[in-house]
Order: sequence, then structure tokens, then C-alpha cells
Amino acid sequence: MRIIRITLLSLLLLMIALPLYAGGRLTYYCSTDIPWCELMKKEFEKRTGIRVSMTRASSGETLTKIRAEKSNPKGDVWWGGTGDPHLQAAEEGLSQAYNSPKLSELHDWAKTPHQATGGKTVGIYLGALGFGYNRELLAKKGLPVPKCWNDLLHSAYKDEIMMAYPSTSGTAYTTLASMVQLFGEEGGFNYMKGLHKNISQYTKSGSAGIKASARGEITVGIVFVHGAVKQAVSGFPIEAVSPCEGTGYEIGSVSIIKGARNLENAKKFVDFALTADVQSRSAEVKSYQVPSNKNAVSAPEAPDVSSIKLIDYNHALYGSKVERTRLLKKWDAEVKVLPR
Ligand code: F6P
Repeated sequence: MRIIRITLLSLLLLMIALPLYAGGRLTYYCSTDIPWCELMKKEFEKRTGIRVSMTRASSGETLTKIRAEKSNPKGDVWWGGTGDPHLQAAEEGLSQAYNSPKLSELHDWAKTPHQATGGKTVGIYLGALGFGYNRELLAKKGLPVPKCWNDLLHSAYKDEIMMAYPSTSGTAYTTLASMVQLFGEEGGFNYMKGLHKNISQYTKSGSAGIKASARGEITVGIVFVHGAVKQAVSGFPIEAVSPCEGTGYEIGSVSIIKGARNLENAKKFVDFALTADVQSRSAEVKSYQVPSNKNAVSAPEAPDVSSIKLIDYNHALYGSKVERTRLLKKWDAEVKVLPR
């Protein structure tokens, strides 16, 4: 009798759940902020009836995971995170081509990765690199106001700066590649060595530093400018800085994982992610990147990227397997090991 009751109950639960997830499944890897990852999951489930399971990890970490799963892919689609590791994934044959009908609605900068990889990855947002500081802590400690990358090398900032590991975090890799492009290979590495002396802690995720700064645990966090603006809009005493020398930028991207078990659903997710009204919803979770769909609406709080001195970041070179691997190895061998 008990077994019959349990079976009936299970059947009933299945009947309730089935119409909700009638569209099948999708395994989705997300490399941007958790609230935005979750909003995308919920909205996609709502619109399609496809059941989504999500894993959030930083950009470099996700590339490592997808590579480790290469012979038995578990993920279907990778959304968010800086474009460089998405480009490397394409080069390594870890992602697969898709021409979304939404492509024609995108800015040219978002189509560039698609053209460069034969359709294996495409831009979803753009963000400029910079840093943020806690103005209350800065004043309390009597520190000078930092305006430039070079200001952060001042000995007054010893133990006052947080950034992430370039190997796990796309933000930190963009920092390394930007310094090499701004100051040359030798100058860029000298910069990273000088900065290292002032770093209190390296984190896994790029946004951890500015979150710690918002909580008053550290003065400066190296982060995308929109990440600092997010903390300011959330009510924390954070000032966002676009460094005076100029700065690098990311083309946050989406890729379908090669061997995706739910390929048709992964394609639907890419179409969804490139849709104007979906991209416009990023403001609800205070994610202020520039959307890639020309018709998407940017929030008034979003940093005006056209007023930021952007370098001509060479995404093709710094997203290539050889160059990214070389720079990461060199940072590990020449910067990470130095005493602080
Ligand atoms: O927090 C959002 C964000 O700054 C994105 O713009 C960027 O693509 C991503 O984080 C990078 O995260 P991580 O540095 O942890 O790889």
C-alpha cells in the first residue's frame, strides 16, 4: 500500500514538473556575476520550458574545465566572461560554430570574434578595464587619489590593492595583456612586478577585489569599470577610475561547447542571449557592460565607454593559445614568485 502511495505521489510530481520543463535540458557555464547568471537561467527557462543547470566560474577557470571535459563534454553553452579565453577555446577546438539569426543586430565589435573564429564565439557585451577605490578608506588612511595605472605603484599603496590571478580570472588576464600593450613587453612586466609589491591578496574571481573594497576590507580593487560602478550604485563608497594612460577592454562572449549534448537548446540560448530585450535586462542586476545588440538599452548609470581612452586591444593576438599561455607562464615564473 505504502509503495503504491509513493509511486502515485512520484507520478503526480512528474506530471507537475513535465510541462514546466517540456523543452528538455541545457547545461550552462556562466562567467559573469552570479545575479546576472541566475537572471539569464530563470528567464530562459521561463521563455522556453528548457530546464537549465548552471555552474558559475571565472573565465580562465571555465576554459580549464571545458578543456578537462573535452573527451566527455558536460556543458552545452558558455556564456559571459572575457573574450580572450573564448577565442582560445575556439582555437583549441573546444567550441563549435553557430550563425545566430540575431547576428545582423549586433555591433561590429561583437561580430569580430565570430568572423575571426569561423562562427565559434560571438560578443555579448563590452567592458573597459580600470579600478575602483573606497573613498572613505582612502581619506582615513591619507592616501593620494589614484588616477592612473602608474599611481598604483606608489609605495603608499602597499597592501592596499587586490586583483585576481591572471590564470583563473579574465579581468586579471586583461590587466596583464593591457599593461604589455600599453608599456611594451618589458615595461608591462616591470609594471606587474611593481604592482605585485602592493597587492595584499590575489583572488580567483575578478570582481572579488572591488567587492572587498566595498565592504571596507581593502582600498583599491582592479576591476572592469562597470564592476566598480555596480558597487557605487549599490550604495558603497566606491569611486570608479578610468586610468589616465588609457586602458584595455573586453568583448565578453558566448560559445557553444563542442560535443554539446543539447545542441539545439544551446543554439536557442545563444539566440536568446543576443536578443535586445534580454540584454537590456542586465541593468536589473546592476551589470553595466555595453550590450552587443544595437537595439538593447544601456542603463543611465552605465559608464560611458566612448569617453574612456581605450587602447586598440589586440584580441586576436592576446586571445591566441600561444600568446595567452606564454604570458600566463611568464607571470607565474617572474611575478607570482616574487616576495611582497
Ligand atoms: O563581473 C562581471 C565581469 O566583470 C565581466 O564583465 C567579465 O567578463 C567577468 O566579470 C570576468 O570575470 P573573471 O575575471 O572572474 O573571469
